Amino acid sequence: MVSRVFRFAQGPRALTDESEPDFGLSENTDAVVLVGGKGTRLRPLTLSAPKPMLPTAGLPFLQHLLSRIKAAGITHVVLGTSFKAEVFEDYFGDGSDMGLEIDYVMEDEPLGTGGGIRNVLPKLRGDNVLVFNGDVLGGTDPLAVLRTHRDREADVTMHLVRVSDPRAFGCVPTDADGRVEAFLEKTQDPPTDQINAGCYVFKREIIEQIPAGRSVSVEREVFPKLLTDGARVYAHVDSAYWRDMGTPEDFVRGSADLVRGIAPSPALNGQSGESLVHEGAGIAPGALLIGGTVVGRGAEVSAGARLDGAVIFDGAKVDAGAVVERSIIGSGAHIGPRALVRDSVIGDGAQVGARCELVGGARVWPGVVIPDGGLRFSTDV
Ligand code: GTP
Repeated sequence: MVSRVFRFAQGPRALTDESEPDFGLSENTDAVVLVGGKGTRLRPLTLSAPKPMLPTAGLPFLQHLLSRIKAAGITHVVLGTSFKAEVFEDYFGDGSDMGLEIDYVMEDEPLGTGGGIRNVLPKLRGDNVLVFNGDVLGGTDPLAVLRTHRDREADVTMHLVRVSDPRAFGCVPTDADGRVEAFLEKTQDPPTDQINAGCYVFKREIIEQIPAGRSVSVEREVFPKLLTDGARVYAHVDSAYWRDMGTPEDFVRGSADLVRGIAPSPALNGQSGESLVHEGAGIAPGALLIGGTVVGRGAEVSAGARLDGAVIFDGAKVDAGAVVERSIIGSGAHIGPRALVRDSVIGDGAQVGARCELVGGARVWPGVVIPDGGLRFSTDV
């Protein structure tokens, strides 16, 4: 695993981690992380790297999740891979650098979230299986979810978070005892603000019942069937930090929240600041880096550039007077002088010419060259 050196623009801020190991509970638990999705919503960045490996506050996103698993005292992790499977093992190896023991199980064809869980069964050792979607940035202590599972003697315990607008998520109403009553896909009229946070504890026997060898969705098939069958499905509900990093907007926001210490990550050792600049990046005097901006190694930012909530991958260049707001600039991409890039994604090696304006969800594919002044979104001359 490559260790990364970086510096934050401000002094350290302590993270609070109140987790205390529970005798036997974490030892009797395997963590499973689903990382096999194609990440289509984050294209073109996910053409070259799987979503959980995209750099986030200086580290592959997955490293933040793995460090949270480790902090909870769980040491055996199984990664359910498919798309670009080899990238994970190349980076994390056997996990020993992080004090973990990591196994890999690859699906030749993606088996979906439920199929991915079923597929790792031969690698499981404990009675409890803590499953994570590999693209969720969260602040919940996994041990707290495990304790709820144990205390309720549940077959499955789902982590739910309360959000202000639940319409875009799977919505999960519960009764007064915290027992799950229904599992509703996205609805315009949600009956509760509790949504599926993409983290579950399964009794191992329940995983044995998931059909093998075919694609299965845990959300659309496994959970509805468990409820119909009367299984003991309970909820662990909280209002901790939570963000699904699946879209460019959420990725940019989650990255900035990590940099600023709003989203906790044991992997950052309590450090936070207004911006994070990797060793080897060149920042000219007079460049402004704010809003949780990250600048990757070997990247260059020229005088008068303004980066606000920007994610600049390794080797990218931002020229003098350019403005990059809430956007991702892929590896080796080049933003020309006085260009404006706002709420957009620029693919690896793409070139945005001088004075271009890309706003509101623009996505430039890798290697594409936009000539100077060649693209405007406003009528200003
Ligand atoms: P989109 O294509 O943008 O929806 O992204 P995605 O493919 O990652 O799908 P989604 O965000 O719904 O997936 C949630 C989590 O499950 C992610 O961490 C995925 O990597 C993972 N995942 C999705 N499908 C599969 C699969 O078929 N197999 C495995 N092992 N993991 C999967």
